[in-house]
Amino acid sequence: MIQHARQVLSDNDRGTYTVPTHGLYPFQWNWDSALSALGFAHFNEDRAWTEIETLLAHQWDDGMVPHIIFHQPDDGYFPGPEVWGTGRDVPTTGITQPPVAGFAVCRMYDRARDKALADKHARAMLPKIHAWHQWFYRCRDPQATGLVAVLHPWETGRDNSVDWDAAFERVPTDGVGTFTRRDTSHANPAHRPTDEQYKRYIWLVQKFRSLSWDNTKLHDASPFQIVDPGFNAILIRSCHDVATLAARLDMPEIAAEARAMADKGVAAMEQLWSEKWGQYLCLDRTTGMQVDSPSIGGILAVFAPIPKERAVAISQRIAKLAEVCEYLVPSHDPTAPEFDGLRYWRGPVWLIVNYMIADGLEQAGETRMVGRITSDCVRLIETSGFAEYHDPITAEPCGGAHFTWTAAMVIEILNTYELAA
Ligand code: GLC
Repeated sequence: MIQHARQVLSDNDRGTYTVPTHGLYPFQWNWDSALSALGFAHFNEDRAWTEIETLLAHQWDDGMVPHIIFHQPDDGYFPGPEVWGTGRDVPTTGITQPPVAGFAVCRMYDRARDKALADKHARAMLPKIHAWHQWFYRCRDPQATGLVAVLHPWETGRDNSVDWDAAFERVPTDGVGTFTRRDTSHANPAHRPTDEQYKRYIWLVQKFRSLSWDNTKLHDASPFQIVDPGFNAILIRSCHDVATLAARLDMPEIAAEARAMADKGVAAMEQLWSEKWGQYLCLDRTTGMQVDSPSIGGILAVFAPIPKERAVAISQRIAKLAEVCEYLVPSHDPTAPEFDGLRYWRGPVWLIVNYMIADGLEQAGETRMVGRITSDCVRLIETSGFAEYHDPITAEPCGGAHFTWTAAMVIEILNTYELAA
């Protein structure tokens, strides 16, 4: 299985970055690269560092690291650089994605066989990653609450989650103009977001473009401001890990600032806890209301150093989900009416999220659940191959095939965990 996974990685390798999969996603995606580097690191550390180095080379002056870097033109993807209009020499989108690169760099450093190489790269990368984290708290948390908002569903990485439905209804569709989607010619339309959702995705892009992608304005101008526990957990975990590594590398200023951001974030996460569900929920910042949607974002929150009793409760919550599906962890509760086992982030299992959940549970000592989740990952791949995502009940492979981060997670999981029998 590892041989096969390595083949997927090398087929999608474009030299200094990988594409998530040929056709459907022909550029470099932010959190895909960070997580894929973990897979490369098991057999080619130099190539793994390069993956993240390329990503960070396209950081904006204000600190943001963009969600897509359009290294080479490709007509097969919409919306391309001309829709974003960010005016960069190498075009990028104007939004960001979950900042898991901080976690990935620290993990790669800890495991490195070539310590000198790791030291060189980590020293160069930590200031950049730290600047990105500071950008988040400055531009996406202007009231200094300790939690950042995402302004576009694509920023969360969970593009069409049920979590956004109510808030997304308030994003207009008028004046968007006509466009041709390209995703539905590469993947089954029943596995993808709807046309109505696509109009709203594009409306937001046009709105932010009209503000010249000025991040001092975007937050307050956006009708979509969601505080996602999963996203915040990734940011908090990355700040936490950066703080630890910066202290080891004798970078005390970064260490102190990163530690303060992580601590404030952990405390603020409490506002998102739901006793009713036994997990965290999103907060709609425009209404000030919690979003009553039991999705995986509030389970992924265990990736952050949250209090032990919260982590244990999340493990119990996952055990309940195990009663209603065959493969953990579904991206939405299968008993909820909106659940759709085939449609992207409205039900399917994603290995990258499973990996982060398993890691968080491992830190909390929930090893039985870790064993269950990691062995479900392997069973899914054995049954259905390296798909983008899988139906949590039937294991049907969905979305794109031959998928980079799915393969990277298989390599990472098989090298990290004792699988449950
Ligand atoms: C989809 C996913 C997103 C991912 C991208 C590339 O848009 O929702 O999380 O980064 O594909 O794989």
